[in-house]
Amino acid sequence: MNQLGSPNPALVRLNKFLSTAGIASRRKADELIEEGRIKVNGKVVTSLGTKIDPARDKVFFNEKQVVLLDEPVYIVFNKPKDCITTMSDERGRATVMDYLRLKQRIFPIGRLDRNTTGVLLLTNDGDFANCLMHPKNEVKKAYKVGLDKPLTSSHAEQLANGIRLSDGKTEPAEVYSIPGGKNKLIGIVIHEGKNRQVHRMFEALGYQVEKLDRVAYADITYEGLKRGGWRYLTKGEVRRLKEVVEEEDNGKVKMQN
Ligand code: URA
Repeated sequence: MNQLGSPNPALVRLNKFLSTAGIASRRKADELIEEGRIKVNGKVVTSLGTKIDPARDKVFFNEKQVVLLDEPVYIVFNKPKDCITTMSDERGRATVMDYLRLKQRIFPIGRLDRNTTGVLLLTNDGDFANCLMHPKNEVKKAYKVGLDKPLTSSHAEQLANGIRLSDGKTEPAEVYSIPGGKNKLIGIVIHEGKNRQVHRMFEALGYQVEKLDRVAYADITYEGLKRGGWRYLTKGEVRRLKEVVEEEDNGKVKMQN
């Protein structure tokens, strides 16, 4: 804690810190300070001019530490090949964080295999991420799949009806042939997130997946983003994603407010 008048730009007034953290308005925070209800680094502080360094000083109100929460951040990333969906890698492989150099700690919503390309959402909003990933909410994920040989219509039907995998049968999926792809380029829309699900579904029927591209997560696509590019979701996009999981009050997992 430093005293008023310090030139250190990291310092903020204690009342501003308390109001930014949502404890009280600045005026009310001044009252809390004068009443001796705020402690900084274990000591009661009553001086209204007190400044603190939010990165170092520990502020307590009602015996609980006051912390500044990061602004929620929502991002769509167009994942390239050879990039892993973790924040760091001991083996020095490229990770999503090599592409997204942000101050905030964010994390991916689900994962894509190293060589899968396409839409990956990232956020620091754990509640939002959990809701989107929860199987009960059935958020749709659309993939373009490149196969080693043409898909037969009876296999397409089996994929659409559900395939028995080691961890259970897959839910019904939408499966279609992409025009011009000679039945080796297939679109599939699933609403589950089993590990390597798309690979395993096609492999179970004797196909090799040579390319896998996630073209949409709910209604978010990578349109306008080059591979490796990213952008913040708009407020409208975030609202729509929240609506996807809040749609019906019929047992689906709901967002907390
Ligand atoms: N299914 C897969 O097999 N891999 C992915 O990366 C995503 C879905």
